[in-house]
Amino acid sequence: MDKFSIKGGKRLEGELAVSGSKNSALPLVMASILSDEVSTISNVPNLADIKSMILILEVLGTKTDLRGSVLRVEPSNCDKFEAPYDLVRKMRASVYALGALIGRCGKARVSFPGGCVIGPRPIDLHLKGLEELGVQIELEHGYIIAHADKLVGNDINLRGPHGPSVGATVNVMMAAVKAEGVTIIRDASCEPQIIELAAFLNSMGASINGAGTPLVTISGVKELHGAKHSVIPDRIETATYMIAAAITGGNILITNGSFERTEAVIEKLREAGVDIVEENGGVRVSASGGQLKPIDIRTAPYPGFPTDVQSQIMALTTIAEGISVITETVHPERFMHVSELNRMGADIKIEGNNAVVKGVPKLSGAPVMASELRGGAGLVLAGLAAENQTVVSRIYHIDRGYEDIEKKLAGVGADIERISD
Ligand code: EPU
Repeated sequence: MDKFSIKGGKRLEGELAVSGSKNSALPLVMASILSDEVSTISNVPNLADIKSMILILEVLGTKTDLRGSVLRVEPSNCDKFEAPYDLVRKMRASVYALGALIGRCGKARVSFPGGCVIGPRPIDLHLKGLEELGVQIELEHGYIIAHADKLVGNDINLRGPHGPSVGATVNVMMAAVKAEGVTIIRDASCEPQIIELAAFLNSMGASINGAGTPLVTISGVKELHGAKHSVIPDRIETATYMIAAAITGGNILITNGSFERTEAVIEKLREAGVDIVEENGGVRVSASGGQLKPIDIRTAPYPGFPTDVQSQIMALTTIAEGISVITETVHPERFMHVSELNRMGADIKIEGNNAVVKGVPKLSGAPVMASELRGGAGLVLAGLAAENQTVVSRIYHIDRGYEDIEKKLAGVGADIERISD
């Protein structure tokens, strides 16, 4: 298992570009089987999760060809309908096979995704939405067995106890594009990846309106054709590098970072005393290296502050002057990184779904362990700011969502290297 060795205290300076968005690319890759024709998706990030999704397509009988960041999908022989446990257990987004297979052939057998280190992640809303389109669902031997003689549009509400569900919106959209009549999704997720999925499906011949708002209307069509699409830059990766600059008192330009899609993070970084401006279509982040101010954060579905940036911003608040309170409303138990940050000298206490962070003058390097993707990224950021050496182990979690993170950070002056066992 690889590790990162980081010698903290280097001020980041220079330019970097982020890769295509993982969470946008995943549904697009799966949606490409809704047609029999070839689709080409470009700016696909080279990540373990994308490879897992491509493997599922191949197991279903689809031919794929990934060259660099361009993925060609040829689904004409996609004639299987089972996504097995061994693949689904690796990545929860595998459950997108459910909506895509139902949309493609009216039947699916998909392993029930298990528990997850960031807390309970049920799929009741996915199943409810699909049932309301006329899908019959049974749970048997750890598998979801779904079939529909006919998909019929319906009025479906996808609000859950922690807000709208990204995954349920994706699954219902992929089935509803092939349903008879009109489907209305209320309380749909408004995340940018939903807008992107709708754009891709519309370019395949679907008829989806309102994506990016809580009310999405889908008029079903009989057939979809192949399409070409380029994935948008990753906003979570952008936010992570913005915080990397801020935590090291650095000055970097993220050349393709989206200002608009990272506004909630920008607002909080500015409140902490970091300067952020739009520059040549990218985002420039500059911090003086002086004392950061404490900030209170409440994660929320888009356009709120993303849960996927919670651990990274927490790393920043550990060295701000004063008390910051971080409330996690989307995945209320997503605090695995806290004990590791405390081992680096941070002072964080968990009270329910709140983390109370009392800023300390300095973090001190330590061996720490990543337990999940974003928590792992938070530890890397803490290592960049800490005195001496930090070794982050189990970085396969980080590799799931950050393409070449160590190369990108080293390119702007960080002292970070991958140690392979
Ligand atoms: N929820 C339910 N029932 C459901 C589905 C979700 O109660 O049927 C709850 C979840 O337990 C959670 C909340 O609703 O509390 C939001 O879950 P959602 O379904 O929106 O999350 P997801 O689709 O499983 C995606 C991202 C996550 C990101 C969340 C929230 C992908 C592949 N994953 O997950 O990304 O945290 O939305 O924004 O897009 C990551 O990239 O590190 C990551 C975990």
